[in-house]
Amino acid sequence: MSLRDGIIVLPSEHLEAVIKIAAESLECQADFFPLEQDIFSSRDDPGEALLLPEFRRKLQLKGPKNKVGKVLETAKKLAKEISAKEQESFSLTQEITERYEQLATLFEMSEKLGMAGDNPSRVAAILDTAATAVSASCGCLLMLDGDCRFVNRGEREMDREAVSALARRAAERNHPEVDEKKYIALPLSVSENLPIGALALGPRTEGIYRSGDVKMLVTLASYAALLLESGRLYEGLETLFFSTIKSMVEAIDAKDPSTRGHSERVRRYSSLMAQKMGMSIQDQKMLELAALLHDLGKIGLPDSILNNVKSRLTEEQWQLVKQHPEIGVSILTHVAQLKNILPAIGQHHERYDGSGYPTGIKGQDISLFARIISVADAYDAMTTQRSYRPTFDSRQALAELRDNSGNQFDPMAVELFLQSFSGADNQTTGHERK
Ligand SMILES: [Fe+2]
Repeated sequence: MSLRDGIIVLPSEHLEAVIKIAAESLECQADFFPLEQDIFSSRDDPGEALLLPEFRRKLQLKGPKNKVGKVLETAKKLAKEISAKEQESFSLTQEITERYEQLATLFEMSEKLGMAGDNPSRVAAILDTAATAVSASCGCLLMLDGDCRFVNRGEREMDREAVSALARRAAERNHPEVDEKKYIALPLSVSENLPIGALALGPRTEGIYRSGDVKMLVTLASYAALLLESGRLYEGLETLFFSTIKSMVEAIDAKDPSTRGHSERVRRYSSLMAQKMGMSIQDQKMLELAALLHDLGKIGLPDSILNNVKSRLTEEQWQLVKQHPEIGVSILTHVAQLKNILPAIGQHHERYDGSGYPTGIKGQDISLFARIISVADAYDAMTTQRSYRPTFDSRQALAELRDNSGNQFDPMAVELFLQSFSGADNQTTGHERK
């Protein structure tokens, strides 16, 4: 059986089976002629189909006279029962399908939302996916401590004032709200009494909101609230983390004023190289951290060495300076979040041909971050003022990098630097001793 235009269709063989069962139960026999077409039975009264003249002409009943007359009546009852079961089964299937589609949509949304990097991206992704999922014409996501972001998917201009007012009401009352324009708003709450904002959506582009849509929006709103709140907490921690890093970099600068700004410039050059090679955003962030902190170990060196800008280092002083990569690693070794950048810090003075320090490893054994930082570090060292050696201009420094490609530097890293850096923003604000 199936549904066609809202009518339960009982194929002729089903009707025949029903009548045969009814006939057998009354000790009668039912014979049929071939049917030319299916017979339709209405949902309200499926048994009526049995009374159609076309059907009767093709049916022959045999049996005791007092029972033959009851066959069609019994068959009608049976057909009604079957039709009711069919309808129940169809509704159940429809509900399961709807639930499955909602789950699939929520899953897709959670994936999409999980990939959104920062809070503004998350807000945009939540709003867009919610509006798309329920075919809303427009909507807004309001954060109680921030702005209201809008999306308009319909052809008509949205009433921003009305939708944002409804969102604010839902957030302030911490309760779902609807208005006469068929807008719907749901609070975004991380706990029962702690709304952080609200999601409001305009009318559907077609039809009206069904209970399944509302259920899905409630689930989405709960998920969105958690996502936004955890994103905010994470960003707060990230800000704290980077403030700490900045303090560390300032400590390096304070310890060795002659290299002021060096770490930040190396970070900037490394970042340009990372972007040029298409490094992932996550890796770019780690590389930038490594670049900022590559000389952290210098804070463990005596001031007499770092402040000696007038003469070349003695052999004994040089041996101490060569320890700064390992001192940097030992300082950061207990910071779990920085575990991945320790090789870059420890290896940034290794050379591609194995003639560097502290361990003399070479080639691809040197971490990619270290190979990149090494080029950026050298370029900045060459182009910043040093009293014991003439400063190179950008062109000379680039030529130097090219000349040392394959021995001191990874050729790939040199090529990245040449491609990504024009030298136009070179500043001469510090001194660096290699
Ligand atoms: Fe260094």
